Amino acid sequence: MKAIAVVGAQWGDEGKGKVVDYLAASFDYSARYGGGHNAGHTVIINDHKFVLQLIPCGILRLGKKAIIGAGVVVDPAALVAEVDSIRKGGIDVEGRLFLSNRAHLIFPYHRELEKSAEAARGPHRIGTTSRGIGPAYEDKMARCGLRVCDLMDEERFARKLRRVLEEKDALSRSCFGQPLETVGILEAYRELGARIRGFVTDTSALVNCALAEGKSILFEGAQGTMLDIDHGTYPYVTSSSATAGGACTGLGISPTRVTGVIGVTKAYTTRVGGGPFPTEMPELEAQAVRDRGKEYGAVTGRPRRCGWLDLVMLRYAIQINGINSLVVTKLDVFDTQREIQVCVGYRYKGSRLSEMPAEVEVLAEVTPEYKTLPGWQAATDHIRAANELPRAASDYLKFVSDSLGTEIGMISTGPERDATIIPTGTKLASWL
Ligand code: GDP
Ligand code: IMO
Ligand code: MG
Repeated sequence: MKAIAVVGAQWGDEGKGKVVDYLAASFDYSARYGGGHNAGHTVIINDHKFVLQLIPCGILRLGKKAIIGAGVVVDPAALVAEVDSIRKGGIDVEGRLFLSNRAHLIFPYHRELEKSAEAARGPHRIGTTSRGIGPAYEDKMARCGLRVCDLMDEERFARKLRRVLEEKDALSRSCFGQPLETVGILEAYRELGARIRGFVTDTSALVNCALAEGKSILFEGAQGTMLDIDHGTYPYVTSSSATAGGACTGLGISPTRVTGVIGVTKAYTTRVGGGPFPTEMPELEAQAVRDRGKEYGAVTGRPRRCGWLDLVMLRYAIQINGINSLVVTKLDVFDTQREIQVCVGYRYKGSRLSEMPAEVEVLAEVTPEYKTLPGWQAATDHIRAANELPRAASDYLKFVSDSLGTEIGMISTGPERDATIIPTGTKLASWL
């Protein structure tokens, strides 16, 4: 039995899509367990670019099955659009895509409420993706959310929706001084419900039966450790459990089922939206990395903030997720870099911090301690074997791996499937 989680070790966009697409060839199922269409997972196959937001990337592998679990918040319009878009790309989802009947739904009013709340925060706004993710999770926790199973029953859905719309309208009027746009929601959702009905099932039962039969499953994390609602840079986080533990709650499986955890990190760090970022580069340097790494949001197109690799953060991510194997992506982005900095510690008010601080106010004021390593100034995108990497590139990876006490099981040197190096003798290699 193989049940391996792939999680982001930073602030998202680490290249999880590429990694999951690569690994999915060796697994029967891939499953999303949290987040929603705030995610954007890019996969490039033969020059065709797919950006998946809700559907696990494993769907792109012929005959493999993909699951959207109960922990995901689903905008059915986004799901239908995504199904249509990948069908256009030649991928059929029939009989291969499964959606949890327990997943919560996102409605247009979630987006509206999010926009008003973000505007009200002014300079303290989170910089959300405006997809309604936060408000949908708020409703879930407040126990007034509507779920996929509700959408499958017309009468019950109409009754519950009417009640919620009245509540949300009153809220919007009193908090933001404006009524809520509610016209046409019921009819639109009825139509969307009909479009997704064929995918809906009890996915927890499905996953548990599959595991009992000895099938293998890859859990596709969305976002990243530092965006996790409990362990990230709160409040500059998303509203879901992005860490490995979320795979259990979000899919309805026992922690005893998870057999391994892969953490994905870039060779540097990026972040989209607000919040502290200790190793952020000055804008001129950041722009150079942004250009080389094409660091613009896969979905929103927003420029990503860029900074050096942060080993304090990665050590924290390894601890929270129990990462057994690291994947380092975008090594090629440093191919022309003369010198590379790596953050090896934080100093705060004259002392060295031994743990990741809980307060964003503290994290915003830490001074990173850097180790400077030489760049390799040679192309790596064509390399397929670890022992063919330039010496300085191997040294960089060895420094990271030794400092963290964790193997590097995969190195990515380009967005394409084959721009991938799998060193031999690793745990990750044994999972393929
Ligand atoms: P995800 O959200 O973690 O799946 O990552 P995104 O897809 O949002 O962002 C990663 C971006 O980097 C995408 O455009 C990928 O195609 C690209 N990418 C992934 N791995 C590599 C790599 O090793 N080198 C380069 N140059 N690009 C990569
Ligand atoms: P993937 O899966 C990067 C960020 C947003 C914002 C914060 C809250 O592609 O790695 P939200 O809309 O979730 O309420 O926004 O979280 N964010 C991401 N950043 N990658 C993602 O997903 C993200 N999903 C959310 O930019 O700062
Ligand atoms: Mg992304």
